[in-house]
This record gives sequence, structure tokens and C-alpha cells, in this order.
Amino acid sequence: MSDVPHELCVAPMMERTDRHCRHLLRLLAPNVWLYTEMITAKALVNGDRERLLKFAAIEHPVALQLGGADPGELATAAAWGEAAGYDEINLNVGCPSGRVQAGCFGAALMREPALVADCVAAMRARVHVPITVKTRIGVDHDDSYELLHAFARGVIDAGCATLIVHARKAWLSGLSPKENREIPPLEYARVHRLKRDSPNVEIVINGGFTDVAAVEAERGRVDGVMLGRAAYDRPMLIAELDHRRWSGSASPGLEQVRARALRAFVRYVDAELASGTSLKAMTRHLMGLYAHERGGRVWRRALSALGDGAAGLRGLRALVAARVADSCIERDDLDTMASPQLQYS
Ligand SMILES: Cc1cc2nc3c(=O)[nH]c(=O)nc-3n(C[C@H](O)[C@H](O)[C@H](O)COP(=O)(O)O)c2cc1C
Repeated sequence: MSDVPHELCVAPMMERTDRHCRHLLRLLAPNVWLYTEMITAKALVNGDRERLLKFAAIEHPVALQLGGADPGELATAAAWGEAAGYDEINLNVGCPSGRVQAGCFGAALMREPALVADCVAAMRARVHVPITVKTRIGVDHDDSYELLHAFARGVIDAGCATLIVHARKAWLSGLSPKENREIPPLEYARVHRLKRDSPNVEIVINGGFTDVAAVEAERGRVDGVMLGRAAYDRPMLIAELDHRRWSGSASPGLEQVRARALRAFVRYVDAELASGTSLKAMTRHLMGLYAHERGGRVWRRALSALGDGAAGLRGLRALVAARVADSCIERDDLDTMASPQLQYS
């Protein structure tokens, strides 16, 4: 699993890419890399580790993203992640939130390249799965290409297998995390140059990708593209990218991919409800499934109006049945569709 290239990835996003979201994305896009929300090493040390690390086998390939700056603690957290079955451990060196800075990690760590290298080396020494790093192109006025290149060299020499670069810098004060994802300009050329200067290292570009053409234009410039907000707000974009890249001409069309995913997700919801998960925790991730399409608003409104528990599930079933009835999918095909694997790793 660790040999799967990172051509297409969905970004780690707090309060978004939880296991329910990842389940849906996997049903839509069989080949993309998925990332957890950031989990701090401290939370794993002090919190409910089993709950925090829980995921379903269908999610592979899936990476655990860790936050932290203590090499020993990160190494322990990475070992727990590997034992839980994750395919990769990713270190977050890109988050500019004040809360994260107070713990002196995230983007603030770009100022501490030797410490980041120590963290990577400590994790590398403890686990067999790849260690990867997600970073920005710089912070504040420390934003020259030379600093980025030196930072990259340090983590690569310490054992980082893949570098994911959000192609904008972060301002550590004065901007909110949301503003820090919008205001600093995107500088893709820096990431392309980093790839040219590091031909033997897998480099994934991130930031601002919202359409097929822009993603496909990156082929040959970098090794992969990671999408965040667009993948969440419009999951059919990820389905389309996966489909264009990996599906043969004999494979079903996108409409059938969506219909199958919806039917399988309803079965997943059914099983999860039985083990106590709330319906809304899962259906909230379906909101964007018809985004930018006719009927998208009606779909969202109907999802929002669902109750919880068995009644909500009945409503969801009816909603999905009405939608997939139009998708020219054969009933036999639906009935023989494999159920998602619900055993947890
Ligand atoms: C709601 C939200 C939560 C995020 N949480 C994380 C996180 O936990 N770890 C991380 O490395 N980046 C996080 N990010 C940043 C994204 O991973 C990504 O780098 C950023 O959104 C830029 O990519 P995009 O333009 O495709 O959205 C988050 C972004 C959003 C919108």
C-alpha cells in the first residue's frame, strides 16, 4: 500500500476529513490518498487513542496526520498509528492557527528546521511506513526559495519520503487560519522549482486547485496534487479526477459511480447507526454531492431536514432512492454491489 503514488490526494482538514467523510470519498474515488484530520501527538498520549485512530479498511490508502514538535512523543504516536494500520504518517508543518503556534508546532516549525528534521528522524526510526511532511512555502518574511529548499533538504535527509507543499506562505500573526488559506498569494512556480531541484523526491503541490484542467496541468511538473476545500465542497470533482485518471473506457460513468457510492454509503450509515454514531455526523458530508448541479439546493435542504435515528435513515433511503432512480443503473447491478468493508483496522 505504501508504494501507491500520491498523484491525487485529499487534504487533511480538521472537522471535515473524519472517518465518515473519508469513507464517502473512498466510495467515490478508489485510487486517491486520504488524510485524517490533524491529531496531536499529545492527544494520542493523553486521550482516547482507540477512538482517535479508528478507521475502516475500505479507506486504504490512508495517512494519519500528526501535529507536534516533541520527537519522542511523535515517534510514539507514529508507532501507534502504524500499529492501527495507517499506510503513512504525515507531520503537519503548515498550520498557522494561534492554538497550534502556542504549542509551537504547525507552520511555526518552519523556523526550526533542525527540530523538524529530528522529529522526522525519530519517527523514521520507529516505524516502517513512509513518513511524509506537509508544509508551506515559508512563514512571515522567512519566505525565500533558498529557505524552502534548505528546509526540504533537511527533512528529506532525515527520512521524509514525500513532501506536500501548500504553495502559499503563512503569516503567523495578523491573519486567521481561514485568511491564511486565502490572502497570501499562491506561488506554484516555487513548488515546481523545488521538484526540478529534487528530482528523486516525491513532491505534491497543494492550494487553490478547483478544476480538472488545473489539476491535470500539473502532470509532469510535480508528482501529485492535493485538493482540500474543493474536494470537500464538491466531492464529485475528486470522483471525476480519479475516474479520468484510472478508469478504463469499459468502466461505469460518473453518474453510476455516484449512485453506487450513495447506495453503499447508506448501508454504511445503517451499520454505524447501530453502533451509536449519529446520523448527522455522517450525512453532513453528503451536502456537496450535487453541488453546482440542478437540484443541489433541494438535496441539501432535504438532507438538513432529516431527523436522527431510524426515522432519519428511512428519510435518507427515500432521498437516495429518488436520486439514483434517474441514474440508469441496473437494479441487478445495485443488488450485487459489494458492501463496503466495515471491519476496522
Ligand atoms: C476546514 C479546514 C481544516 C483544515 N485542517 C487542516 C489540518 O488539520 N491539517 C493540515 O495540514 N491542513 C489543514 N487545512 C489546510 C488544508 O489541508 C489545505 O492545505 C488548504 O485548505 C489549501 O488547500 P485547498 O486550497 O485545496 O483547500 C485545513 C483546511 C480547511 C479548509
